[in-house]
Formats: sequence, C-alpha cells, structure tokens
Amino acid sequence: MLALALALACAPKSSTPSAPLPEDDGSVNWEREMMQLHMSEHFTRAAQARDHVIAGRLDEARAELSWLAEHDAFPGEPATYGSFMTDMRTIAETGVAARDAEGLAACIGGLGNTCGGCHQSLNVAARIPGSTGPAPDNNGGVHGHAARHGWAVDHLWIGLVKPDDAAWQGGLDAIRAPVFDMEGLGVPEEAAGTVAAYGMILSNMGQEQVGSADTGGRAELFGRVVSSCAGCHAAVR
Ligand code: HEC
Ligand code: HEC
Repeated sequence: MLALALALACAPKSSTPSAPLPEDDGSVNWEREMMQLHMSEHFTRAAQARDHVIAGRLDEARAELSWLAEHDAFPGEPATYGSFMTDMRTIAETGVAARDAEGLAACIGGLGNTCGGCHQSLNVAARIPGSTGPAPDNNGGVHGHAARHGWAVDHLWIGLVKPDDAAWQGGLDAIRAPVFDMEGLGVPEEAAGTVAAYGMILSNMGQEQVGSADTGGRAELFGRVVSSCAGCHAAVR
C-alpha cells in the first residue's frame, strides 16, 4: 500500500511529445553539445543516487537527487523540453523527501521513466553507459554476487532510461535465479532467514513480465528491485 502510494507520487504525468532535435550533421552544434554535457551529468547523478540506495547510503542518494531537483535549466535548453524537465525535477524533489530506501527507490524508478520518456519522444538513441558483455556468473562470493547483480541493475536501468527492451529483459533474466550462498556472502546465521526471503523476492521479480509500452509499470518494478537490494543489505549489516 505504502509502496503503491509512493510509486504513484513518483509516477510522471504523461507529457506531450516535443519537437525533434535538429539533425546531427557533423558540424559543431552548440545546442547538441550542451545537451550531451548536461546529459552526462544527469546520468552520473541519477545512477549514483541509484547505487547509493542499493548500498544503504540514503543521505548521499538524497544529495544527488537534490542536485537534479534544484539545478537550473542549462543555457539554450529548448522550451519544448519543459514538461519533461519539470517532471524530472518534481520526482527528484519527492525522492529528496522520501523517508526510507523503499520511497527513494520508487522515485529513482520514476526518474528513469522520465528520462526514457523524453528520449523516446525526441527519438534519440541515447548512449547510456553501463556494464557491457554477457551477464557475469555468480560464483557465490561477494564479488560474484556484486558483479552479476550490478550487471542486472545496469541493464534494467538502460532498459528504462534509453529505453531498450532487450536490455530490460536481460536484466530480468540475470536476477531470475539468484545464488545467495550464505557462507560465501558472509551472512550471519541470525540473518539467514531474512536473506533467503529477499533472495526469493528478487528472483520472483525477475519473472514479472511488464510490456515495453507499460513504462510506468517497468519504473515501478525497477523501484522494487532496487528496494529489495537495499533491504537485504540492511538486513546483513
Ligand atoms: C528533456 C528531455 C530529456 C530528459 C528529461 C532526459 N534526457 Fe537524456 N538526452 C536527451 C537528448 C535530446 C539526448 C541526445 C543528445 C545528443 O546526442 O544529441 C540525450 C542523451 C542522453 C545521454 C547520452 C549523452 C551522450 O553523451 O551521448 C545520456 C547518458 C542521457 N541522455 C541520460 C539521461 C538521464 C539519466 C536522464 C534522466 C535523469 C535523462 N537523460 C533525461 C533528452 C533528455
Ligand atoms: C538476498 C540478499 C541480497 C540481495 C537481495 C542483494 N544482495 Fe547484494 N549483498 C548481499 C550480501 C550478504 C553482501 C555482502 C555483505 C555486504 O556487503 O553487506 C552483498 C554485497 C553486495 C555488493 C558489494 C558491496 C561491497 O561493499 O563491496 C554489491 C555491489 C551488491 N551487493 C549489489 C547488489 C544489487 C545491485 C542487488 C539487487 C539487484 C543486491 N545486491 C541484492 C546480499 C544481497
């Protein structure tokens, strides 16, 4: 119930498509270069907020979101970007005010959806950085777990932000059969039950099918995935 309310608070309103970007003709294009710089910063801030929530550093996550909520439009930002930029700032503000990892995670999902909505409406194939290559195997230890699940979150994120259906499905496949080797992960005995439960929750989310047209549903699922990463980490620390 709480999760649903938060997800709704963080769901972007549908925005009207804007005018397409000018063609990239290889000449120096001020607007385009500004946009790329601006986007790299956006990407960094949003992805860091996401990783802070996963690691349980909630204040650091709020600080990144607060930058996204407060920073001004960049010089030359076309007025047509307005509604997406406004949605993005509003969602980031909701995230700053979120009390717990669950609320923050829901807002980060909503934020990713706004990114994806603008890219899609402008028809830009944004190059979203993240792990490349096939999903690493999980050998049961902390390193194997971090590599595989980090890869999964990267792909779900690219799936949402670019957006990219294949990346989204790849991310789901990678969380579907998680190996949580209690010993390899150094899980204290008293936390084993909770950790096993989170492992099941994550694996079940890997089986949820949300169509590519339902971007709000994907954003909500992304929020729940990040929230379960954070929840299990909090349980073992
Ligand atoms: C108002 C519309 C809009 C919003 C909102 C938006 N983007 Fe973008 N984004 C663009 C456009 C336009 C480009 C293409 C720039 C180019 O290559 O010319 C782009 C490109 C990118 C790139 C590639 C940059 C490069 O160097 O090629 C990344 C990464 C990116 N966006 C991330 C994000 C993230 C993360 C968010 C959300 C926090 C976001 N964007 C929100 C419009 C938007
Ligand atoms: C079932 C419990 C559980 C779930 C769910 C879980 N993790 Fe972990 N994770 C652990 C444990 C246990 C450790 C090792 C102890 C620690 O670092 O607190 C760990 C450590 C990590 C680390 C390394 C941290 C470091 O300091 O080196 C990363 C990165 C990581 N997890 C990412 C993720 C991501 C991303 C997700 C969600 C897709 C996730 N984890 C979901 C249990 C879990």
